[in-house]
Amino acid sequence: MSLPASDLTKQPDNRTTMDLGAVLPKTAEVRDDHLFIGGVDMVELAREQGTALYVFDEADLTSRMEAYRDSFRKRFENSDIIYASKAFLNKEVVRLAQAQGMCLDVSGGGELACAQSVGFPMERVFVHGNNKTPQELEEAITAGVGRIVVDSRIELARVSEIAGRHGVVQDIYMRITPGVEADTHEYIRTGCEDSKFGFTMLEDFAFTCVGTALNTPNVRLAGLHCHIGSQIFALHSFREAAAVMVEFMARIRDEYGYVVEGLDLGGGLGVAYLAEHNPSSIDEFAEVTTQAVRELCAEHDLPLPHLSVEPGRSLVANAGVTLYTVGILKTLPGIRKYVAVDGGMSDNIRTALYHADYEPTIANKAGQPRTEIVTLCGKHCESGDAVVVDMPLQHADLGDIVCVFGTGAYNMTMSSNYNGQPRPAVVFVKDGKARVTTRRETYADLYQRDL
Ligand code: LLP
Repeated sequence: MSLPASDLTKQPDNRTTMDLGAVLPKTAEVRDDHLFIGGVDMVELAREQGTALYVFDEADLTSRMEAYRDSFRKRFENSDIIYASKAFLNKEVVRLAQAQGMCLDVSGGGELACAQSVGFPMERVFVHGNNKTPQELEEAITAGVGRIVVDSRIELARVSEIAGRHGVVQDIYMRITPGVEADTHEYIRTGCEDSKFGFTMLEDFAFTCVGTALNTPNVRLAGLHCHIGSQIFALHSFREAAAVMVEFMARIRDEYGYVVEGLDLGGGLGVAYLAEHNPSSIDEFAEVTTQAVRELCAEHDLPLPHLSVEPGRSLVANAGVTLYTVGILKTLPGIRKYVAVDGGMSDNIRTALYHADYEPTIANKAGQPRTEIVTLCGKHCESGDAVVVDMPLQHADLGDIVCVFGTGAYNMTMSSNYNGQPRPAVVFVKDGKARVTTRRETYADLYQRDL
């Protein structure tokens, strides 16, 4: 794996930090050339806590949770927001989600264990995954989770068997593949026909399996689910998915005489990674989805379902940043300028994996224009190890603190210990105070499982 060739014609944009718009966490500001988030000086925080460091703007995070809840509730009273914990998970974010009255999407036993460890109400948990193991299903059912989102016919039988053995009736949602091609990177597109997720609608398979579910003991079909992909800018894709799902619900009513009460339209709202990105707002997303469901239900003479959505990225991506210290500088004439930081693909695999874009700034030069084009490479033994490729940055000196914006989603949860790199701490900042919510990994942590 190597980096794409540098575009040598690319010009610095001369933007300063505060010109980066929707990429910034909401409380970002610049004082005396230093970047502050949550009233905390990122340069001082980096010196105190060490780098690489994940930092979350707590006010930003809670305001997005509130925006989701309120935007949906005011348009659609019978609705819930399910936080997709795969985007970013530690105990504190689960506590925040609970305090905001959210439900929680867990995609396996490990995420469920985190929710249990802080006493998150199990009836508000949705369990996802295309291959939950029998053990994970057993754990979920005995924990008393509210919903298992069943992904296949084989799993339906497993859930029935386990629930029966424990003498309970398990509420399930069935995940349907609506055949909608969302407008996003193919690796994170999930709703199209060729997908390992869900019941395909091809050859009427999903419809037949709904019939099977309705006749399966110890499960109750409480709803249908779909998830068409992630980082989606075009809201019409959600409307298309809603149309397929509501029509499917109408057919279930007509042919099986069963009114499905819940509809979960998944996550996927896109966010700004670059200053020029202009994603739809949470409010616009709520408007499109609730209006679509309302109109489509009226069209099919269906009662309004209990509506839910499962955002991950759009709750946490822009609330989070990563801080690094500049350790090495190398200029390769006619090729590119490397600024090496003390992290990389171990704390942010998205650049290597998806060629993801991020906006960087130097936290101790935050008021200055970004006058150079650089590649922020990591410290790992891999040529393709970079956090930011060919982006504008202020002139970097050794010891500078680099802040990379928009790293709150799918960075920490996709991190690794490659090259024996201990994972960064997670710090929440708010009202001038910083609190560590996940401590930095130690060398001892790395090898404590070894015998
Ligand atoms: N619900 C289900 C069933 C999902 O699979 C996902 C994400 C979500 C909700 C949340 O989607 P969001 O609102 O975050 O788009 N690792 C990739 C993203 C993978 C998304 C997986 N599923 C990335 O770093 O871009």
